[in-house]
Formats: sequence, C-alpha cells, structure tokens
Amino acid sequence: MITSKLPNVGTTIFTTMSQLAAETGALNLSQGFPDFDGPQGLRDAVVRHINSGHNQYAPMTGLPALREQVAAKVARQYGARVDANSEVTITPGATEAIFCAVQAVVRTGDEVIVFDPSYDSYEPSVELAGGRCVHVQLDARNFSIDWQKLADALTPRTRMIILNSPHNPSGALISSADLEQLAQLIEGRDIYLISDEVYEHLVYDGVRHASVLANEALYSKAFVVSSFGKTYHVTGWKTGYVIAPPALSAELRKVHQYVNFCGVTPLQWALADYMAACPEHVEQLPGFYQAKRDLFCDLLTPSRFSFSRVAGTYFQLVDYSQIRPDLNDVDMALWMTREHGVATIPVSVFYQTPIPEQRLIRLCFAKREETLREAAKKLCVI
Ligand SMILES: Cc1ncc(COP(=O)(O)O)c(C=O)c1O
Repeated sequence: MITSKLPNVGTTIFTTMSQLAAETGALNLSQGFPDFDGPQGLRDAVVRHINSGHNQYAPMTGLPALREQVAAKVARQYGARVDANSEVTITPGATEAIFCAVQAVVRTGDEVIVFDPSYDSYEPSVELAGGRCVHVQLDARNFSIDWQKLADALTPRTRMIILNSPHNPSGALISSADLEQLAQLIEGRDIYLISDEVYEHLVYDGVRHASVLANEALYSKAFVVSSFGKTYHVTGWKTGYVIAPPALSAELRKVHQYVNFCGVTPLQWALADYMAACPEHVEQLPGFYQAKRDLFCDLLTPSRFSFSRVAGTYFQLVDYSQIRPDLNDVDMALWMTREHGVATIPVSVFYQTPIPEQRLIRLCFAKREETLREAAKKLCVI
C-alpha cells in the first residue's frame, strides 16, 4: 500500500460540483471559468502560429516577445520597471508558478502563512516542499487582514506569506496601505511572499488594483503571479507568468525547468501578438466584468439571498441564512444543484477550520447575459 504524501487531498469540490452540474443539467456557476470565448483576434493568432511552424519548445523562461509585453504592461499599469529577461518567467498557468515559487523557497520545517478562506493549491504545494501552512483567518465580516492575528502567527520558522488580491472566493481587495503595513511587519525578517494577483484586472467601481509590484520593499522579496487565462477569457490555455527579482527568478526557474521546462509555444506567440495589437483589452476588462456583476446583482435583488457587490474577481458571495439556515453550505450547494438547477461553491471548503455559523456560497458571474438571466430566475424562486 502506498503511503500518500498528500493524505488530506481528495477530489476537489470544484470537480464534484462541475460533475454534478453536468449530470443534473444544472447551470454551472461553480468553477471559475467563462462560458464565452476569448477575443477572436487572439484565437486566430494561435491558428496562424500553429500553421506557420511555431510548434516546438519555447525558451525555458518564456518567449522573449511575450516577456517584453508583460514587462511593458506592468510598467503601464503599476509604474513597475521589471527586466523582461531576468525578472519575467512564463509558466503553464498561475498554478505552476505558485508551485515552483514554493518549491524554490520553502524547506522542511518551514512555515507558510496563508489567509483563510484561501485558494486550494497553496497548501499541497507547501506540504510537498516539506513545509507547513499556518492558517490565519481573514476578518469574517469583510475578508480584510487581521494584522494582530498575522503578527501573532509570525515565528522564526515563517519563511513565506501567500497573499491573494483580488481575493478568491470573497472578491475583497488588499489596498496599498495594507501592503505598506505588511512591509513594515516583515521588515528585516527572512520572509518571502507569493502575491497571487490572477484577478489583477478584475477590479471595479473605479478602484485600481494595488500590486505588490508597486511596493518596492515587498517586491524585493516577492513572486508576483498572474494568469493570461483569467485576463483573456481562456482558462483552458493554462498560461500565466511570474515576476520576481533576478535572484528569486533564477531559483524559481531551476524548479520550473524540471516541472514543465516551458509553456505552450503557439499560445505564447499568440498572446504576445495580441497584447501588442490590443493593449486596451486590459483597460476594458473592469468595465466588461463590472457590467456582468451589476446585471447579476440587480437580477438577484428580489431574491432571498443577501449580498454586497464584490470589489473584484468574477465571483459573487451570497448569504443564504434567510433561506435554509438549517443546511451547512456544502449541503446547500448540493441541494441547490439538485433541486433548483444552479451549481455553486460552498465557501467552507476554502477554510482549514470553517466558521460553523457562516452561510455563504460563491457564484461565478463570468457568464453570458442569457446564462446570468436564467440563473437569476432560478435563484429568485428559492
Ligand atoms: C486565486 C487563484 N490563483 C490561481 C489560480 C490558477 O490560475 P491558472 O488557471 O492560471 O493556473 C486560480 C484559478 O482559479 C485562482 O482563483
């Protein structure tokens, strides 16, 4: 019998809910992916590059043209001057970037702080590196960082902190003042950061994303991760990037070259072309997704769910305490899928220690207008 290295990992709720949605014919607002395609020009570019012979291994660090586009974008967006050669690495998805960053830094016995509710790939990555996650709960009212709890969790073994803003599942944002506070807290300590910013362009109501790239002190110790999948509506392309200072990038690349070696070549060519031809895409994204958020929230207003509009991401949290307070959120999600035809994600799965009285589910609004209308109709009669 093999002894599992990850005994606590089973089938994730994302797979379970998507399968159940498919079996029951429910609308799938569970897993985070759009039900529409990425830009036509981007898809055409992939076909063009496949047909023009860009089908062999890309450079290990990523196609230079794409790394340059990423460097130009973060200069425009955050005023960050990063070197495309030594600081930008293209990866097969943000997930691989996170995994490699953890392996590059975390050693046996190290502690890594994650904020609950937290994305599910962090903990297994840390465990495989021989480290241990220390879970610090975000303030349950607004999902902000409780600075005292964070300060209390720091020990001489703390090697890394994983930030995620805009935050999945809550949609909450970290502000530049938060980043300043964090910089002060870890100053002089041997602590690195992963800043998971895959939803960096999905920030609403005129607010600008506060990137770790714009905070010099934090960036000197950080791996900043993003995902073309989220930004260009192509989650299935599993293409992302990580930006880190040269010494950290060099260590990350040592891992990356033996996990995957490189990302998919024609996708990288297509993204480089499209970013050069259409830099306005990222400027238009907040408006594009804010319209979806607002449509969905307006349609849900007559329902018995309570919610406040999310500040970022393409997820809307809703509280169902007025509907079925007797059900925990996993049972609520299963019941809603089977009985009401809408698949969602229970928020408790993002916690090490769920909050027993919490009654929250996550709905993905990266959907066509007709899907959102149909879903809202079903949600309004629950
Ligand atoms: C917070 C967060 N980080 C990372 C990822 C993974 O991104 P990718 O699909 O590029 O690996 C996701 C995807 O859902 C996410 O929500």
